Amino acid sequence: MPTPVQRIDFGGDYNPEQWPEEVWTEDLHLMKEAGVTMVTAGIFSWAKVEPRPDEWDFGWFDRVMGNMADAGIDVCLATMTASPPPWMSHRHPEILPVTAEGRVMHPGSRQHYCPSSPVYRSYARRLVERLATRYADHPALAMWHIGNEYGCHTKQCYCEVSAADFRRWLHDRYGSVDALNDAWSTAFWAQAYSSFDEVLPPRSAPAIPNPAQQLDYWRFSNDALLGCHLTEKEALNEITPGVPVTTNFMAHHKPVNQFEWAGHEDVVSLDFYQDPHDPRTHLHAALTFDLMRSAGGGNPWMLLEQAPSAVNWRQRNGPKPPGAMRLWSWQAVAQGSDSVIYFQWRQSRGGAEKFHSAMVPHGGTGTRTFREVCELGREPGSVAELAGTRVRQPEVGLVQDWNSRWALELEARPSTALQQPELMLAHHRPLWEANVPTDVVPPDRSLSPYRLVVVPNLYMMSEETGRRLTEYVRAGGHLLVSFFSGIVDESDRIHPGGYPGPLREVLGLRVEEFWPMAARAKQPVRGGPVGETEADLWSEVIHLEGAEAVARFSGGELDGLPAVTRHVLGAGTAWYVGTRLPNAAMRSLMDSVREGAGVEPVLPGLPAGVQTTVREAPGREDGAGSRYVFLLNHGAGEAEVQLPYAATDLLTGRSVAAGGRINLEPRGVAVLR
Ligand code: GAL
Ligand code: ZN
Repeated sequence: MPTPVQRIDFGGDYNPEQWPEEVWTEDLHLMKEAGVTMVTAGIFSWAKVEPRPDEWDFGWFDRVMGNMADAGIDVCLATMTASPPPWMSHRHPEILPVTAEGRVMHPGSRQHYCPSSPVYRSYARRLVERLATRYADHPALAMWHIGNEYGCHTKQCYCEVSAADFRRWLHDRYGSVDALNDAWSTAFWAQAYSSFDEVLPPRSAPAIPNPAQQLDYWRFSNDALLGCHLTEKEALNEITPGVPVTTNFMAHHKPVNQFEWAGHEDVVSLDFYQDPHDPRTHLHAALTFDLMRSAGGGNPWMLLEQAPSAVNWRQRNGPKPPGAMRLWSWQAVAQGSDSVIYFQWRQSRGGAEKFHSAMVPHGGTGTRTFREVCELGREPGSVAELAGTRVRQPEVGLVQDWNSRWALELEARPSTALQQPELMLAHHRPLWEANVPTDVVPPDRSLSPYRLVVVPNLYMMSEETGRRLTEYVRAGGHLLVSFFSGIVDESDRIHPGGYPGPLREVLGLRVEEFWPMAARAKQPVRGGPVGETEADLWSEVIHLEGAEAVARFSGGELDGLPAVTRHVLGAGTAWYVGTRLPNAAMRSLMDSVREGAGVEPVLPGLPAGVQTTVREAPGREDGAGSRYVFLLNHGAGEAEVQLPYAATDLLTGRSVAAGGRINLEPRGVAVLR
């Protein structure tokens, strides 16, 4: 993938159509003042550039593009397709999405289109062709921003058009209705189909809809959204082949398989909205940023949207306290982003997001937000040399899979309290706290870069993945798997031969019975690195078949049975965690697992809450000036860090000798070369 950005870009979503043109002149001055180098423009401009079908008004947008070119600001140009104009659904009501209950989602908001709609897709393609042709050689055009947050509002559509598209998709996938009946286990509850024509989307039904059908609907809907995306991308690649494309991903976003989509992007980009009320918000960010970087093969990615301060779509929208926006922006760069871009440049006067913060707030330039924006805007300029450097290859791979999530989070499981984002976080956090860099990878990615592979609750797993994990351990790898992994195949059918089928050999055990815990119930667990602790959420009956028990349940129905196990296989070791440990116990377990695997933290002995990462210039790992160490203080107090090497802080120009100390204020940041 090419890296289009040669500096750390700074800027925002620019929506000039919300303002009279006099304001645009002020925008230009203020953008200079704030250090803006890139805007992403046109995201919601469709109704203004095509006010009536096939009647075009690009004049005003030409002026916007011209202004940006004159000011030397790059435009990440949106394809404008995220919100179709009212005339479209007025003319073609069949483009409107329909819920599982059969309710039509009307226009008046945004993303009101059925992803399978050929009508919507052809209007979108026509617009994209116009745009690309018009601005192909424009000096401001730096890259394309296709659509906007696919699946954010319309994840799945259950209309007749989608139903027909689903049947086509199923035909391609299964070839015959017998194969479909088999995969969907339709012998259960008399659901056998005699023809594809009888098959429907999993619309709301009297009882639990067929789980394999629901799972396939997630897959199909992902493909339908991707179809929209690729329709636009194809047009762009034909007309502007050299211009990179991206689409903005979202955090913990279930509808879009980001590993798959990333393969279609020239650069991966992310919208991330910290919740200042959530003390773990930087931990969610850490996991998501690692995922973005890994999805893009370790290349720099882009933070394409974040809020300068508060959002307006949570129930209670806290502002970012002083310094938080800076710290969290640097966190993205520390974890591999080559940009810091916000939603949005100027705070709206009206509309649904007028209480959402912006770089230029309602209060204008005499505001804390604008001041902090300007202060931060000066910093990336001083560290342009970071652009294009890569986060040093982590030695730990954390496995995540969209298919497994789609299946895991269906109803009618032993416990519906297992939600993938929380479970992922519980495994990422102890590594983060130990300052151990982590990749987040799909199960079919090569495991060879990793000394340790962590597999949280991978409910759905192919035989092939089981074989690869077994081989990985045999060859000397270290593996940690947690409960309810390897239970079903790709069609949500139980692996035969006892749980967890494809993992029994590598883990050296068998799970006889699941014992999910009641809400708020606790189960004491004791032993080894876990110490004495209280688990929750899940327990189970484990029989050792080669593994040894490291910790055991204590008291209750499972008293004395294994809770955490270790199995030496070939040259490697496989650990299994059959319950949910609280963070402290998970941390000490993870510490001993990774010590056994020989995985070191970036810097040892850092104060709690200090994050550190390393970015390196590719191919120059040992050359002077090519390694950058980030220190980020997420803790509440001041932190002192002792450096094992001499370095210069690029943000202050201060030099520190080997063995010297750096003091970080609360929310302080240092970028050391
Ligand atoms: C994103 C979206 C933006 C804006 C922003 C507000 O989801 O892409 O257009 O709505 O959220 O937080
Ligand atoms: Zn539809």
